[in-house]
Formats: sequence, structure tokens, C-alpha cells
Amino acid sequence: MIVAPDDAGIRRAVQLLRAGSVVAFPTETVYGLGADATSADAVAEIYRLKRRPSWNPLIVHVADVARARTLARRWPAVADELAARFWPGPLTVVVERAAGLPGDLDTVALRIPAHPVALRLLRESGLALAAPSANRSESISPTTAQHVLGSLPEVPLVLDGGPSACGIESTVVDLTVSPPRLLRPGALGLRALREVTGPLTLPVSVAARDGSGDGTVVADGVARPSPGMSRRHYAPRARLILAEDVDAVPRGGLAGPVAVLTYEGRGPGDEVLSADPSEYATDLYAALHRLDDAAVGTILVQAPPDTEDWLAIRDRLGRAAA
Ligand code: TXA
Ligand code: MG
Repeated sequence: MIVAPDDAGIRRAVQLLRAGSVVAFPTETVYGLGADATSADAVAEIYRLKRRPSWNPLIVHVADVARARTLARRWPAVADELAARFWPGPLTVVVERAAGLPGDLDTVALRIPAHPVALRLLRESGLALAAPSANRSESISPTTAQHVLGSLPEVPLVLDGGPSACGIESTVVDLTVSPPRLLRPGALGLRALREVTGPLTLPVSVAARDGSGDGTVVADGVARPSPGMSRRHYAPRARLILAEDVDAVPRGGLAGPVAVLTYEGRGPGDEVLSADPSEYATDLYAALHRLDDAAVGTILVQAPPDTEDWLAIRDRLGRAAA
């Protein structure tokens, strides 16, 4: 059920969460599927609904830095600097994990989301909320309440906070190593991040282009530093093909109907997104959901520029096309 995030909606959500159930809620990046992070049963319900493999750990959302610190065994100085600059916001930090959270990992991923509904839910529930994106594992993340219900019709409650402003997931950075290591490019750009962290280690998928990777090649289905690195992810039902020139792709063998996803200045297409990377990100998943709803067989995607500003978008498109 989709409900407005008014007093009654928040009260209902808090009741469900305190009773160990799950609730979908808006964040500035994408919608999350939340549950009490300290309850093994509640967290298990997230994995069940999403059909998420158990090796893929969840981000824990908190209302303030003080709460984040209680979930960390060690809170490095750089975490304080990042929190001061970017929280609430689309940055997730991985730090050593305090005792008391379910699971046997040594680390925990933490973030304070910037959406007022998410913050109100965190404050009024008094809980830390484990919350992955509120979609079936491997499919496109939801940026509206309707997307959530389309992917996870069994979710008892979806708080409707309107379309997510960022439109792609948070940037995930591992602070347990020095220099910090980027685990997933995301809504917070690397330039801003590096202003606080200094040099960053980039994952192989990203670093392949500039040669600064740490050499760790991670195969699908094995233990990995961040499962956001799994090869196929964020995928629509339609086959997605990334092309430098969509007009040069032979249409012959493609499942139809064939749709084209481009951005301004690159010729006419069925779906034309902004040429500004952050505006493009805001609309990308909604466009992919729309094309899936239209039962398109193939989506030809004009590859965006190979620059750092487009890194997170190219990462998601690459995984969707895998
Ligand atoms: O924007 C976002 O981050 C959204 C909203 C709801 O906050 N959440 C999200 O969650 O994208 P999810 O579960 O779809 O992605 C979480 C990412 C995964 O790549 C996961 O592997 C990584 O964070 N992660 C979580 N805990 C980790 C840990 N302890 N160590 C390394 N990576 C971790
Ligand atoms: Mg996800």
C-alpha cells in the first residue's frame, strides 16, 4: 500500500518497523526497503522479499552522526570530516562494525539520507534502519513509490515522498583502508569526495581506464569487497545495448520493439535525457522503468562521455548491459 508521509503515515510506518516488519521509504538517491538493523528477523525479511543473496550486505541508515558512531568499532577522523561535509547526503561510508548488529561481517556501511521523510522516519522510530534499494535483486532501483510496488508488490507499506532527486544510489567508500577505497561510484561525485579524502583507490572496473586500480579482480558469486561490483545489476527486463553510435547498430537480429535512449545534442531518440550528468542520473531509472512498462524488447543506449562526471552513470549502464 502506498501512503502519504503525513503524521498518520509516519505513525503506521513506525509501528510496522517496531514490530519487526519492513517499510519502503523515499531517500534522495532511490527508495529504500527498511527494517530495524538490530533485528536479525526483520533484516532477514528484507533478503526474502528482495530475493537478495545473503553475501550482499545492507547499508544502515541513521538519523545522526552520534548514532553512526555507536555502530562503528572505530570511527576514523576522515569519517568525521566526510560526515561534516556530506551528511545528510548520498555518501555511504564503510567502517569497522561494533558488536550488536546481526551478521558476521567485520564492517558496516552507514549513511544519513537527506530526504525529509527518511529523516523523520529515522528520528520518530528511534531505529537504525538497514535498507537496500527497494527492488527485486538485480533489477532497476526505484525512484518513485509506484516503482517500488511494481517490483515488490508484497511490501506492506510504501511512504510516498515523490520522485527521488538524485535518481541513482549513494557513493560507497571504504574507510577501513588507507587511502580510502571507492566501492561504488554514485550520486556524490569523486571530485567532491577527494577534496576531503585526498587520493582514493578506485575499483578495477573504474580504474581500468586510468591504470590506477588495485589489481583485485572480483569474479561473480564469490566473496567480494562490495557486491555492488557484481557484474549484472541494475538491469531492465529489456536487453540493453550500449553503443557509441546507436544509429550504427544493425537492427536485424534485435528483439523488438527497439527503443533508443540518448541525451541532448546527440540526435533524436525515443527517450532523450539531459546532457548534464546529474540531471541525466535523476531521470535514468525512471526512463528505464518506462521503457520496460512499454514492453520494449531492446534498448539502444547512446554511451555517455567517458569522463569522471559520468562515472556512476556509465557504471550503472555497463552493469545493466552485462
Ligand atoms: O543510495 C543508496 O545507497 C540506497 C538508498 C536506499 O540508501 N541503498 C542502496 O542499497 O543502494 P543497496 O543494498 O542496493 O546497495 C548497498 C551497497 C552494495 O553494493 C553493498 O554491497 C554495499 O553497499 N555494502 C553494504 N555493506 C557493505 C560492507 N560492510 N562492506 C562493503 N560494501 C558494503
Ligand atoms: Mg540495490
